[in-house]
Amino acid sequence: MKYVWLVILFACTSVAQAQPAGFNYDESKVPDYELPELLQTNAGNPVTTAADWQKVRRSEILEMFRTHVYGRVPEDAVTKMVRVIQEESDEALGGTAVRRQVRLYLKAQGEEPFIDVLIYLPKSRVEEGKSTPIFTGLNFNGNHSITTEEEVPVHQKWARNDARVGHRNNRASESSRGATAHRWQVELLIKSGFGLATAYYGDIDPDYDDGWENGVHGLFGSSKNLKADDWGSIATWAWGLSRMMDYFEQDDDIDHRRVAVTGLSRLGKTSLWAGAEDERFAIVISTDSGCGGAALSRRMFGETVKRINTSFPHWFCDNFVKYNDREHRLPVDQHMLVALMAPRPVYIASAVEDVWADPKGEFLSGREANPVYKLFARRGTIELEQPAINTPIGDFIGYHMRTGGHDANEYDWEQYIKFARRHFEMD
Ligand code: GCU
Repeated sequence: MKYVWLVILFACTSVAQAQPAGFNYDESKVPDYELPELLQTNAGNPVTTAADWQKVRRSEILEMFRTHVYGRVPEDAVTKMVRVIQEESDEALGGTAVRRQVRLYLKAQGEEPFIDVLIYLPKSRVEEGKSTPIFTGLNFNGNHSITTEEEVPVHQKWARNDARVGHRNNRASESSRGATAHRWQVELLIKSGFGLATAYYGDIDPDYDDGWENGVHGLFGSSKNLKADDWGSIATWAWGLSRMMDYFEQDDDIDHRRVAVTGLSRLGKTSLWAGAEDERFAIVISTDSGCGGAALSRRMFGETVKRINTSFPHWFCDNFVKYNDREHRLPVDQHMLVALMAPRPVYIASAVEDVWADPKGEFLSGREANPVYKLFARRGTIELEQPAINTPIGDFIGYHMRTGGHDANEYDWEQYIKFARRHFEMD
């Protein structure tokens, strides 16, 4: 008995210790708040039909997120993308998959920036000439980190130093080969009839504050004079996902109408913003996306707007700083971001120990998006209370909170696969 209590005490202490100190983790200290109206136009008119939503309210909300949160893609952001297949094999993953590595040059062939997309597709479907639904998303450490297959090269770009994967001097190395394979579950995907297409997020914009010069920030117009509502890094990463989608539309082996976009953490904030900006993504999934992702900002539980703007000043547009300690003044909150996915299926995943990301706030933004799905006669989260641990819920707005901490793992993927198979009518 004593031992059990010790284990529980240890688990609680280690959870508490894993979270940055000085922030609120106490539900009773969440301030009273009122969410901005979803179903009322900026002019004060009620939104009562799906057509009103599509024609008026959706674009108003999208514009507010561009102006105040993520920033706007510059008008001249059009690329004549050149794609070059770098490598291909039909003997991947023990002969079960086709692997394709495609380089997307955004400026001109042979020049940076380029996005290296790693694709795995079930071999049997490719052989039968059938296009395959895929999951897509950006990875943190390079394509080589999601697989042990040596044909996938280590990237030569800037890398965040990270002792856990052995990245030093801002360079990636062989040490991270396969290090985060559990976050992608490629074998499970292939077995379940899906493909995977992923790319290193640093190919699009290196994840540090350099005054907006590197990555695609330097590609269009003047990077020196970005306005307060010009794109931050999350918006560039989302834009990069759309360029990958441009490629999927040209690859006959990929079913570009059945692409689910997903991401963990900052890249979960990115998958949500990509899904909002680009309705070609048929399903949108975020894992542990937290502040600036699925979590409601007004709750100020765990990470706050001020903290995120201070630690990561390059993620959002400069206007977002105005809401440091003033979450209640934001003209949007994150339930409106979730609602921008409607009527497409969206899935929000939390982890119980990841209190920094505010699991309850992530659930609530899904729940509060329900009225928009209702306009389309679609059922959203169904349940109105946050479900028990490891109990996935929801119809068009899926949600679960699994055991464990900040990560994406097999449990998460099993739920995403079930959700996608149901909505892509694969069962
Ligand atoms: C930090 C940050 C989070 C983010 C996470 C990640 O914890 O505060 O907002 O989601 O990094 O991307 O790993």
